Amino acid sequence: MLDLISNKTHDETRQGESFAPFGLDPNDYKKKFYIESYGCQMNFADSEVVASILNKEGFGATRNVEEADLIFINTCSIREKAEQTVRKRLTEFKKLKAQNPSTLVGVLGCMAERLKAKFLEEEKLVDIVVGPDAYRSLPGLVEEAESGQKSVNVLLSREETYADISPVRLNTNGVTAFVSIMRGCNNMCSFCVVPFTRGRERSRDAESIINECKDLFDKGYREVTLLGQNVDSYYYNSESDGSGNAVTFAQLLERVAQISPLLRVRFSTSHPKDITSDVLHTMAAYENICKCIHLPVQSGSTRVLQLMNRTYTREWYMAKVDEIRAIIPDCAITSDMITGFCTETEEEHRETLSIMDYTRYDFSYMFFYSERPGTLAQRRYKDDIPLDVKKRRLQEVIEKQNELSLTSYRKDLGKVFKVLIDGDSKRSADDWVGRTSQNKVVIFPKSQHGEKKGDYVSVKINDCTQATLFGAMV
Ligand code: SAH
Ligand code: SF4
Ligand code: F3S
Repeated sequence: MLDLISNKTHDETRQGESFAPFGLDPNDYKKKFYIESYGCQMNFADSEVVASILNKEGFGATRNVEEADLIFINTCSIREKAEQTVRKRLTEFKKLKAQNPSTLVGVLGCMAERLKAKFLEEEKLVDIVVGPDAYRSLPGLVEEAESGQKSVNVLLSREETYADISPVRLNTNGVTAFVSIMRGCNNMCSFCVVPFTRGRERSRDAESIINECKDLFDKGYREVTLLGQNVDSYYYNSESDGSGNAVTFAQLLERVAQISPLLRVRFSTSHPKDITSDVLHTMAAYENICKCIHLPVQSGSTRVLQLMNRTYTREWYMAKVDEIRAIIPDCAITSDMITGFCTETEEEHRETLSIMDYTRYDFSYMFFYSERPGTLAQRRYKDDIPLDVKKRRLQEVIEKQNELSLTSYRKDLGKVFKVLIDGDSKRSADDWVGRTSQNKVVIFPKSQHGEKKGDYVSVKINDCTQATLFGAMV
């Protein structure tokens, strides 16, 4: 999903970041926990919910795994490689546990859900296994584990949205934040494990989302990204609160945008079949709704798309792109692609390359197909494309995207963009790093005018690579 840093294939979207919430002294708490997250932004957002639940029970976060009483790893199952990364990390935790046997190790997230109690057999060092819908039970499970029992809760729920829990912002820059608006997925893309690890789709109470965004804005945040596996099917029927009004994604987007013109709004991910004209018109109507749509195509071949159960055709997708271009001319479009799906021919692979040319993606995440146990594709189709062919096709897709990205970034030379300052550039404390509405990273020198993190500034672009714009404030 939205992690527009460079055009690389990345299996684990962001690896091994650990967190400690701002302003909390871990020594104020009776126990310290360490949490490391893998996978998509929803997993990172979930870790912030977990931190909140644990904080309330008197646990404080630490960035230092060696001083932790509890080590959590929030896991991803999307591709085999993502699971291998987690297993490797677990062997490192094993060494820590050998030094300090009272340390408890908990596996959270999608891999916990997929493997359930099997995890405890396979990985003897694991004490706690908790699925994505069971985080409220964590304090109880920790207690159980402390008494020497292994503890597991992988129940999926049809209702849980953690709507009432204020996430503890971890590793935050104080400017941008993720807000979960729904959980689970009802689509059955045949390659995908998410419906099995995250359960049925459910939308979070609209008021709780708006309140969370308002609260973030009041605390100085200037950008929220609304998260869901399929945000366009967001639908909250507030009958239970007596108002009887249903809220669609377009309406939710509008209400969040109305909090303040100074609050940028992004969202991810849009399934091409579900994004509506209403959403596009809402985006066009509000300057602060960022002009960037992550619209994963997966494949450019109608036959492969059918096998993938994506429910759109090549032509239908292209028409959607046309509609976006017509309604929001300056909109960036980004994508996910899978190469070497079951039975994909060379010609079908070239259709992926040509739909990339058609759409002119600004950025993409690209993967070769990795068969996942229990998915429709695993049960129905043979994973028959040899690994070297999958990888060669992936390489071609990457090269195509590199060209497209460079073209897209070069087009910005000489133009002036409104940039939200995220903070100091990693390369130099004399430079700022920020992003345009299209989510392109911009690096530019600090000035004497006292601009600061969280400010909007105008930047004229004078240089670029395929992943970064460089400029100067005007
Ligand atoms: N909900 C989002 C995607 C979530 S997973 C959507 O519908 O687009 C993120 C990306 O991982 C997918 O878009 C897909 O490109 C990739 N992916 C999912 N399962 C995969 C698999 N089995 N092998 C390779 N890539 C996969
Ligand atoms: Fe997976 Fe498809 Fe759902 Fe995305 S929409 S999470 S790819 S099943
Ligand atoms: Fe991975 Fe689960 Fe997200 S499988 S991509 S962490 S929903």
